[in-house]
Amino acid sequence: MWSELDTPSILVDQTIVEHNLQGMATAASARGLALRPHTKTHKSPLWAQQQVQLGAEGIMVAKLGEAETMLDAGIRRQSIGFPIIGQLKEDKLVSLVHRGLMPRVSVDSTAGVDALARVYQRTGIPIEAIIEVDTGMHRCGVLGATAVVDLADYVRRMHGVHYGGITCFGGHIARTHVQDEIVGRIREENQYLSNLVKVLQEHRLHPTVISEGGTVPAAFLEELTVATEIRPGTYVYNDAATVASFAATWDDCALSVLTTVVSKPAPNRVVLDAGSKTLSSDGPVAGGYGALWGQPGWRLARLSEEHGVLESPEILPWAIGDRIRIVPNHACTTINLHDMTYLIRHDQVAGTLPTLARGKVQ
Ligand SMILES: Cc1ncc(COP(=O)(O)O)c(C=O)c1O
Repeated sequence: MWSELDTPSILVDQTIVEHNLQGMATAASARGLALRPHTKTHKSPLWAQQQVQLGAEGIMVAKLGEAETMLDAGIRRQSIGFPIIGQLKEDKLVSLVHRGLMPRVSVDSTAGVDALARVYQRTGIPIEAIIEVDTGMHRCGVLGATAVVDLADYVRRMHGVHYGGITCFGGHIARTHVQDEIVGRIREENQYLSNLVKVLQEHRLHPTVISEGGTVPAAFLEELTVATEIRPGTYVYNDAATVASFAATWDDCALSVLTTVVSKPAPNRVVLDAGSKTLSSDGPVAGGYGALWGQPGWRLARLSEEHGVLESPEILPWAIGDRIRIVPNHACTTINLHDMTYLIRHDQVAGTLPTLARGKVQ
C-alpha cells in the first residue's frame, strides 16, 4: 500500500499517466499534428518509449546529457532544444551521432549553425537545424522576421546542415491564469507564426516543420492552424500550474508527494515534511507552493528546505502523524529532485521508476 511508504515519497499514478499519454497522442493525430513530447518532465526512458509507441515521431530533450540517457534506451530521433555552443558540446554531439542519434537541433545564431556544420565535418552525417523564433517569451529565439529569414538562408547555404523549419516555445502564454488571456496569447502566437511562414515562403525558405511547444497550447489544439508539430512535456504528469492554465483538471494530475504532518504549533498551522528540497520552490501558483490532493482549495503557504507550511484563518482538521498528498506546482522541477518515483495503481505500489535523466543538465 502506498499509504504505508516512508515520507516524503513521490507517487505517480500509472492509470492517470496512461490516460494523459493516450489523450495527447489521440488529439494530435486527430488534427494531423506530429507529436514530439518534451521528456524533461519525466526524465524517464520508460515513459519516453511509451510516448513513441503511442505514435510520437520522436522526443525532445533540452540537454545532451538527457539525449544520451534516451539514446541508451534506443530512442534515436530526438529534438535537442538547446543551442550547441562550445567545443565540449560539439564533441559530445559528435559522439552521440556516432552512436546513432538522429538529432534535430534548435539554433538561433550563426554560431549555433557553424557548430552543427563542424559536427557534420567530423561525422559525415548531415544535421537538421530548426530555427528557434521568439514569439513573446523573450528567452532564446530569433527576434523578428527579417532576422529569421537571414538565419534560415544561412542554414540553407551551409554544407552538411539541413534546414528543417522553425520552432517556438511560448512560455509567456501561461504567465496569466485568465483563460481568455491564455487563448488570446495562443492566437497571437499562431498569427505570428502564420505571418512568419508567409515571409519565409516569399524568400523560398518554406519551413517543412513548424513546431510549437508547451502543454498549454497543446490543450487548445483548435487554435493552432499553422503548426505541423506540437511538443508538450508537462502533460504526462500535470501539476498545479497546468491546472491553473486550463490545460488540465485535478483528475489529470498523476504526480503527488506523500507527506506527513510533523508539527501543529497552532490550531491553524500544520507543518509537513516536504519543503523546497522535495517540491522545488517554483511558484507561487494560485498563491501557494503546492495543492492538497483532493482538496485543491488548500495550498501550502510557504516552504523552507525541508518544511512545508499549511496555514488557514480557520482551525485545521489534521493532527500530527496524519498523511497528506500534495500536488506540486511544477512537475518537472519536482521530478528532477528525486532519484526515483513510486508507480501506484489504486491503493497499491505497482513498482518503482528510476529518474534516469535526473540532474543531466550538461
Ligand atoms: C523548448 C521547449 N519546448 C517544449 C516545452 C514543454 O512545455 P511544457 O512543459 O509546458 O509542456 C518546454 C518547456 O519548458 C520547452 O522549454
